[in-house]
Amino acid sequence: MTKATDSTSQTLAALGVASADAVTARFAALRAEFDGDAGGEGAWKALHDSWMGRKSGVLTRVTENWLKTATPALRPAVGKCLNELRGHVEQRLAELQRAAESAADEAALARERVDLSLPGVTRPLGSRHLLRQTFAEIERIFLSLGFAVVEGPEIETPYYNFEALNIPEHHPARDTMDTFYLETPRQNSGGPARLLRTHTSPMQIHTMEKQPAPVRIIVPGKVYRRDNPDATHSYMFHQVEGLAVDTDITFCEFKGTVEYFVREFLGPKIRTRLRPSYFPFTEPSVEVDASCFVCGGSGCRLCKSSGWIELFGAGMVDPAVYGFVNYDAKRLSGYAFGLGVDRLSQLKYGIEDMQLFFQNDVRFLRQFP
Ligand code: PHE
Repeated sequence: MTKATDSTSQTLAALGVASADAVTARFAALRAEFDGDAGGEGAWKALHDSWMGRKSGVLTRVTENWLKTATPALRPAVGKCLNELRGHVEQRLAELQRAAESAADEAALARERVDLSLPGVTRPLGSRHLLRQTFAEIERIFLSLGFAVVEGPEIETPYYNFEALNIPEHHPARDTMDTFYLETPRQNSGGPARLLRTHTSPMQIHTMEKQPAPVRIIVPGKVYRRDNPDATHSYMFHQVEGLAVDTDITFCEFKGTVEYFVREFLGPKIRTRLRPSYFPFTEPSVEVDASCFVCGGSGCRLCKSSGWIELFGAGMVDPAVYGFVNYDAKRLSGYAFGLGVDRLSQLKYGIEDMQLFFQNDVRFLRQFP
Protein backbone atom coordinates (compact mmCIF):
# COMPACT_ATOMS: atom_id res chain seq x y z
CA MET A 1 0.00 0.00 0.00
CA THR A 2 1.39 3.37 -0.89
CA LYS A 3 1.45 5.98 1.80
CA ALA A 4 0.34 9.57 1.32
CA THR A 5 3.79 10.77 2.30
CA ASP A 6 5.36 8.81 -0.53
CA SER A 7 3.76 11.29 -2.88
CA THR A 8 5.79 14.16 -1.41
CA SER A 9 8.90 13.09 -3.28
CA GLN A 10 7.13 13.94 -6.53
CA THR A 11 5.94 17.29 -7.85
CA LEU A 12 2.29 18.14 -7.99
CA ALA A 13 2.52 18.17 -11.77
CA ALA A 14 3.90 14.66 -11.78
CA LEU A 15 1.07 13.64 -9.49
CA GLY A 16 -1.43 15.21 -11.88
CA VAL A 17 -2.73 17.65 -9.23
CA ALA A 18 -4.24 20.57 -11.12
CA SER A 19 -6.89 22.13 -8.89
CA ALA A 20 -6.96 23.75 -5.46
CA ASP A 21 -9.43 21.04 -4.33
CA ALA A 22 -6.98 18.35 -5.34
CA VAL A 23 -4.26 20.19 -3.37
CA THR A 24 -6.52 20.26 -0.30
CA ALA A 25 -7.24 16.55 -0.72
CA ARG A 26 -3.54 15.76 -0.90
CA PHE A 27 -2.87 17.72 2.30
CA ALA A 28 -5.84 16.07 4.01
CA ALA A 29 -4.27 12.69 3.19
CA LEU A 30 -0.93 13.82 4.64
CA ARG A 31 -2.63 15.03 7.79
CA ALA A 32 -4.54 11.78 8.14
CA GLU A 33 -1.33 9.83 7.88
CA PHE A 34 0.38 12.07 10.41
CA ASP A 35 -2.49 11.74 12.84
CA GLY A 36 -2.39 8.00 12.38
CA ASP A 37 1.32 7.89 13.25
CA ALA A 38 0.90 10.35 16.11
CA GLY A 39 -1.78 8.21 17.72
CA GLY A 40 0.78 5.71 19.00
CA GLU A 41 2.47 6.19 22.33
CA GLY A 42 6.05 7.34 22.70
CA ALA A 43 8.41 7.64 19.73
CA TRP A 44 7.65 11.34 19.32
CA LYS A 45 11.29 11.84 18.43
CA ALA A 46 11.12 9.48 15.45
CA LEU A 47 7.87 11.12 14.34
CA HIS A 48 9.47 14.53 14.73
CA ASP A 49 12.42 13.50 12.57
CA SER A 50 10.40 11.96 9.80
CA TRP A 51 7.99 14.94 9.59
CA MET A 52 10.04 17.93 10.62
CA GLY A 53 13.56 16.75 9.78
CA ARG A 54 15.36 19.55 7.98
CA LYS A 55 16.79 17.54 5.12
CA SER A 56 14.22 14.95 4.25
CA GLY A 57 11.29 15.44 6.55
CA VAL A 58 7.83 15.33 4.97
CA LEU A 59 7.36 19.08 5.42
CA THR A 60 10.68 19.81 3.76
CA ARG A 61 9.76 17.57 0.86
CA VAL A 62 6.40 19.27 0.49
CA THR A 63 8.13 22.62 0.47
CA GLU A 64 10.66 21.51 -2.11
CA ASN A 65 8.55 19.33 -4.33
CA TRP A 66 5.09 20.80 -4.02
CA LEU A 67 5.39 24.42 -3.06
CA LYS A 68 8.45 25.50 -4.95
CA THR A 69 7.37 23.76 -8.12
CA ALA A 70 3.70 24.71 -7.94
CA THR A 71 2.16 26.64 -10.75
CA PRO A 72 1.34 30.24 -9.89
CA ALA A 73 -2.32 29.26 -9.89
CA LEU A 74 -1.89 26.52 -7.25
CA ARG A 75 0.83 28.17 -5.19
CA PRO A 76 -1.51 30.10 -2.83
CA ALA A 77 -3.49 26.95 -2.07
CA VAL A 78 -0.33 24.91 -1.50
CA GLY A 79 1.16 27.63 0.72
CA LYS A 80 -1.97 27.92 2.83
CA CYS A 81 -2.38 24.16 3.23
CA LEU A 82 1.32 23.77 4.06
CA ASN A 83 1.13 26.39 6.81
CA GLU A 84 -1.91 24.73 8.30
CA LEU A 85 -0.29 21.33 8.18
CA ARG A 86 2.94 22.67 9.71
CA GLY A 87 0.98 24.31 12.54
CA HIS A 88 -0.90 21.10 13.18
CA VAL A 89 2.23 18.93 13.14
CA GLU A 90 4.18 21.26 15.39
CA GLN A 91 1.43 21.54 17.97
CA ARG A 92 0.79 17.81 18.08
CA LEU A 93 4.50 16.98 18.32
CA ALA A 94 4.89 19.45 21.19
CA GLU A 95 2.02 17.71 22.99
CA LEU A 96 3.57 14.33 22.41
CA GLN A 97 6.92 15.57 23.69
CA ARG A 98 5.37 16.90 26.87
CA ALA A 99 3.49 13.67 27.44
CA ALA A 100 6.62 11.60 26.84
CA GLU A 101 8.65 13.72 29.23
CA SER A 102 6.13 13.69 32.04
CA ALA A 103 5.75 9.93 31.64
CA ALA A 104 9.52 9.62 32.01
CA ASP A 105 9.45 11.87 35.09
CA GLU A 106 6.75 9.83 36.68
CA ALA A 107 8.58 6.62 35.98
CA ALA A 108 11.73 8.04 37.58
CA LEU A 109 9.76 9.24 40.59
CA ALA A 110 8.15 5.86 40.98
CA ARG A 111 11.54 4.19 40.76
CA GLU A 112 13.14 6.49 43.30
CA ARG A 113 10.24 6.84 45.69
CA VAL A 114 11.11 6.38 49.36
CA ASP A 115 8.36 4.64 51.21
CA LEU A 116 8.22 6.50 54.49
CA SER A 117 5.77 4.02 55.91
CA LEU A 118 8.30 1.18 55.85
CA PRO A 119 9.40 0.19 59.35
CA GLY A 120 13.10 0.89 58.80
CA VAL A 121 16.01 -0.34 60.87
CA THR A 122 15.21 -0.26 64.55
CA ARG A 123 18.13 0.08 66.88
CA PRO A 124 17.20 -0.85 70.42
CA LEU A 125 18.03 2.09 72.67
CA GLY A 126 19.25 1.40 76.16
CA SER A 127 18.63 3.74 79.03
CA ARG A 128 20.75 5.02 81.85
CA HIS A 129 20.93 2.80 84.90
CA LEU A 130 18.76 4.03 87.74
CA LEU A 131 21.86 4.66 89.86
CA ARG A 132 23.31 6.85 87.11
CA GLN A 133 20.04 8.74 86.97
CA THR A 134 20.19 9.22 90.73
CA PHE A 135 23.80 10.43 90.52
CA ALA A 136 22.76 12.90 87.83
CA GLU A 137 19.88 14.20 89.93
CA ILE A 138 22.11 14.69 93.00
CA GLU A 139 24.76 16.41 90.88
CA ARG A 140 22.16 18.70 89.31
CA ILE A 141 21.02 19.89 92.73
CA PHE A 142 24.50 20.60 94.08
CA LEU A 143 25.76 22.15 90.84
CA SER A 144 22.87 24.61 91.13
CA LEU A 145 24.22 25.54 94.58
CA GLY A 146 27.70 26.28 93.24
CA PHE A 147 29.39 22.97 94.06
CA ALA A 148 31.88 21.44 91.64
CA VAL A 149 31.99 17.72 90.79
CA VAL A 150 35.31 15.90 91.28
CA GLU A 151 36.19 12.23 91.20
CA GLY A 152 38.93 10.23 92.86
CA PRO A 153 40.62 6.83 92.92
CA GLU A 154 38.89 3.69 94.20
CA ILE A 155 42.24 2.34 95.38
CA GLU A 156 43.54 4.29 98.38
CA THR A 157 46.16 4.17 101.07
CA PRO A 158 45.13 3.77 104.72
CA TYR A 159 46.36 7.32 105.25
CA TYR A 160 43.73 8.90 103.01
CA ASN A 161 40.98 6.44 103.84
CA PHE A 162 41.55 6.57 107.62
CA GLU A 163 44.40 8.49 109.26
CA ALA A 164 43.98 11.87 107.64
CA LEU A 165 40.28 11.59 108.39
CA ASN A 166 41.16 11.42 112.05
CA ILE A 167 40.73 7.64 112.29
CA PRO A 168 43.99 6.38 113.82
CA GLU A 169 45.18 2.85 113.36
CA HIS A 170 43.61 1.18 116.36
CA HIS A 171 40.53 3.35 116.56
CA PRO A 172 37.34 1.30 116.90
CA ALA A 173 35.73 3.33 114.09
CA ARG A 174 37.82 1.31 111.68
CA ASP A 175 35.93 -1.82 112.62
CA THR A 176 32.75 -0.58 110.97
CA MET A 177 34.68 -0.03 107.77
CA ASP A 178 36.65 -3.21 107.44
CA THR A 179 37.65 -3.52 103.84
CA PHE A 180 39.64 -5.22 101.11
CA TYR A 181 43.40 -4.80 101.21
CA LEU A 182 45.27 -5.29 97.97
CA GLU A 183 48.54 -7.04 97.47
CA THR A 184 50.46 -4.76 95.16
CA PRO A 185 54.07 -4.86 93.95
CA ARG A 186 54.64 -1.43 95.47
CA GLN A 187 53.50 -2.56 98.88
CA ASN A 188 55.66 -5.67 98.67
CA SER A 189 58.68 -3.45 98.12
CA GLY A 190 57.99 -1.54 101.30
CA GLY A 191 55.45 1.03 100.04
CA PRO A 192 52.21 1.85 101.85
CA ALA A 193 49.38 -0.68 101.93
CA ARG A 194 46.62 -0.30 99.35
CA LEU A 195 42.94 -0.83 99.94
CA LEU A 196 39.62 -0.33 98.23
CA ARG A 197 38.21 2.88 99.67
CA THR A 198 35.40 2.35 102.17
CA HIS A 199 33.91 5.78 101.56
CA THR A 200 34.38 8.79 99.30
CA SER A 201 35.69 10.85 102.23
CA PRO A 202 39.38 10.41 101.20
CA MET A 203 38.60 12.92 98.46
CA GLN A 204 38.06 15.54 101.17
CA ILE A 205 41.74 15.18 101.99
CA HIS A 206 42.97 15.02 98.37
CA THR A 207 40.99 18.12 97.50
CA MET A 208 42.16 20.20 100.47
CA GLU A 209 45.75 19.12 99.88
CA LYS A 210 45.52 20.35 96.32
CA GLN A 211 43.72 23.65 96.70
CA PRO A 212 43.30 26.39 99.29
CA ALA A 213 39.87 27.33 100.66
CA PRO A 214 37.18 28.09 99.62
CA VAL A 215 36.19 24.55 98.68
CA ARG A 216 32.74 23.44 97.55
CA ILE A 217 32.82 19.99 95.98
CA ILE A 218 30.82 16.84 95.63
CA VAL A 219 32.43 13.48 94.86
CA PRO A 220 30.32 10.79 93.22
CA GLY A 221 31.85 7.31 93.21
CA LYS A 222 32.02 3.65 94.11
CA VAL A 223 33.05 2.42 97.54
CA TYR A 224 33.71 -1.03 99.02
CA ARG A 225 33.15 -2.73 102.34
CA ARG A 226 33.42 -6.24 103.62
CA ASP A 227 29.64 -6.55 103.87
CA ASN A 228 27.55 -9.57 103.01
CA PRO A 229 24.97 -8.87 100.33
CA ASP A 230 21.36 -8.45 101.46
CA ALA A 231 18.45 -6.13 100.71
CA THR A 232 20.36 -3.11 102.04
CA HIS A 233 24.01 -4.15 101.81
CA SER A 234 26.57 -4.91 99.13
CA TYR A 235 30.35 -5.25 99.10
CA MET A 236 30.29 -2.49 96.48
CA PHE A 237 27.99 0.50 96.61
CA HIS A 238 27.86 4.20 95.75
CA GLN A 239 28.29 7.47 97.57
CA VAL A 240 28.32 11.16 96.89
CA GLU A 241 30.66 12.98 99.26
CA GLY A 242 30.14 16.66 99.90
CA LEU A 243 32.58 19.18 101.33
CA ALA A 244 32.28 22.91 101.83
CA VAL A 245 35.05 24.88 103.56
CA ASP A 246 35.24 28.66 103.70
CA THR A 247 35.93 31.49 106.12
CA ASP A 248 32.41 31.93 107.44
CA ILE A 249 30.50 28.69 107.08
CA THR A 250 28.10 28.23 109.97
CA PHE A 251 25.99 25.35 111.16
CA CYS A 252 23.05 27.32 109.72
CA GLU A 253 24.44 27.16 106.21
CA PHE A 254 25.06 23.45 106.68
CA LYS A 255 21.49 22.85 107.85
CA GLY A 256 19.99 25.03 105.12
CA THR A 257 21.95 23.25 102.40
CA VAL A 258 21.01 19.80 103.67
CA GLU A 259 17.34 20.76 103.93
CA TYR A 260 17.36 22.25 100.46
CA PHE A 261 18.91 19.10 99.01
CA VAL A 262 16.42 16.78 100.69
CA ARG A 263 13.43 18.84 99.52
CA GLU A 264 14.75 19.02 95.96
CA PHE A 265 15.48 15.32 95.91
CA LEU A 266 12.44 13.87 97.67
CA GLY A 267 9.81 16.60 97.25
CA PRO A 268 8.79 19.99 98.69
CA LYS A 269 6.66 18.57 101.52
CA ILE A 270 9.54 16.65 103.11
CA ARG A 271 10.82 17.89 106.47
CA THR A 272 14.28 17.12 107.80
CA ARG A 273 15.65 16.50 111.25
CA LEU A 274 19.22 16.27 112.48
CA ARG A 275 20.03 13.57 114.99
CA PRO A 276 23.31 13.53 116.95
CA SER A 277 25.74 10.95 115.65
CA TYR A 278 29.45 10.25 115.50
CA PHE A 279 32.07 10.36 112.80
CA PRO A 280 35.75 10.86 113.62
CA PHE A 281 36.12 13.55 110.93
CA THR A 282 33.10 15.71 111.80
CA GLU A 283 32.21 17.51 115.02
CA PRO A 284 29.39 17.83 115.72
CA SER A 285 28.20 14.86 113.64
CA VAL A 286 24.63 14.19 112.65
CA GLU A 287 22.40 11.73 110.90
CA VAL A 288 20.01 13.52 108.56
CA ASP A 289 16.48 12.11 108.74
CA ALA A 290 13.59 12.94 106.40
CA SER A 291 9.93 12.87 107.35
CA CYS A 292 8.54 9.65 105.92
CA PHE A 293 7.37 10.34 102.38
CA VAL A 294 5.03 7.37 102.42
CA CYS A 295 2.93 8.20 105.50
CA GLY A 296 3.89 11.86 105.83
CA GLY A 297 5.11 11.30 109.38
CA SER A 298 2.19 9.49 110.98
CA GLY A 299 4.00 6.15 111.00
CA CYS A 300 3.98 3.23 108.58
CA ARG A 301 5.88 0.09 107.64
CA LEU A 302 8.61 1.93 105.73
CA CYS A 303 9.52 4.22 108.62
CA LYS A 304 8.87 1.46 111.19
CA SER A 305 6.14 3.62 112.75
CA SER A 306 8.64 6.35 113.66
CA GLY A 307 7.55 8.86 111.01
CA TRP A 308 11.21 9.43 110.08
CA ILE A 309 13.62 7.83 107.64
CA GLU A 310 17.37 7.88 108.13
CA LEU A 311 19.02 9.38 105.04
CA PHE A 312 22.75 10.01 105.49
CA GLY A 313 25.60 11.07 107.74
CA ALA A 314 27.05 14.56 107.90
CA GLY A 315 28.54 17.18 110.17
CA MET A 316 30.83 20.15 110.61
CA VAL A 317 34.39 19.32 109.57
CA ASP A 318 36.40 18.34 112.68
CA PRO A 319 39.24 20.89 113.13
CA ALA A 320 41.62 17.97 113.57
CA VAL A 321 41.17 17.21 109.86
CA TYR A 322 42.40 20.68 108.89
CA GLY A 323 45.64 19.81 110.69
CA PHE A 324 46.33 17.05 108.14
CA VAL A 325 45.98 19.37 105.14
CA ASN A 326 47.54 22.54 106.55
CA TYR A 327 44.31 24.49 106.60
CA ASP A 328 44.01 27.22 109.24
CA ALA A 329 41.46 25.78 111.67
CA LYS A 330 41.07 29.16 113.41
CA ARG A 331 40.08 30.95 110.22
CA LEU A 332 38.19 28.24 108.35
CA SER A 333 35.07 26.22 108.99
CA GLY A 334 32.96 23.89 106.93
CA TYR A 335 30.72 20.90 106.66
CA ALA A 336 30.79 17.49 105.00
CA PHE A 337 28.23 14.86 104.15
CA GLY A 338 28.22 11.36 102.70
CA LEU A 339 25.14 10.41 100.70
CA GLY A 340 24.47 6.72 100.13
CA VAL A 341 23.29 6.78 96.54
CA ASP A 342 21.90 3.24 96.46
CA ARG A 343 19.88 3.87 99.60
CA LEU A 344 18.58 7.27 98.42
CA SER A 345 17.63 5.68 95.11
CA GLN A 346 15.87 2.78 96.89
CA LEU A 347 13.89 5.23 99.01
CA LYS A 348 12.97 7.56 96.17
CA TYR A 349 11.89 4.83 93.76
CA GLY A 350 10.54 2.31 96.27
CA ILE A 351 13.06 -0.45 95.53
CA GLU A 352 13.01 -3.04 98.28
CA ASP A 353 16.08 -5.04 97.33
CA MET A 354 19.39 -3.28 96.66
CA GLN A 355 20.68 -6.33 94.79
CA LEU A 356 18.35 -5.43 91.90
CA PHE A 357 20.76 -2.62 91.04
CA PHE A 358 23.54 -5.07 90.30
CA GLN A 359 21.79 -8.01 88.66
CA ASN A 360 21.30 -6.31 85.28
CA ASP A 361 17.88 -7.84 84.81
CA VAL A 362 16.33 -5.90 81.95
CA ARG A 363 12.87 -6.42 83.39
CA PHE A 364 14.01 -4.23 86.28
CA LEU A 365 16.08 -1.78 84.22
CA ARG A 366 13.27 -1.18 81.71
CA GLN A 367 11.08 0.23 84.45
CA PHE A 368 13.33 3.28 84.67
CA PRO A 369 13.80 4.50 81.09
N1 PHE B 1 32.07 8.74 105.16
C1 PHE B 1 30.95 8.47 106.03
C2 PHE B 1 30.47 7.03 105.80
O1 PHE B 1 30.74 6.48 104.76
C3 PHE B 1 29.81 9.41 105.75
C4 PHE B 1 30.12 10.82 106.08
C5 PHE B 1 30.73 11.65 105.16
C6 PHE B 1 29.82 11.34 107.34
C7 PHE B 1 31.01 12.96 105.47
C8 PHE B 1 30.09 12.65 107.65
C9 PHE B 1 30.68 13.44 106.70
O2 PHE B 1 29.80 6.47 106.64
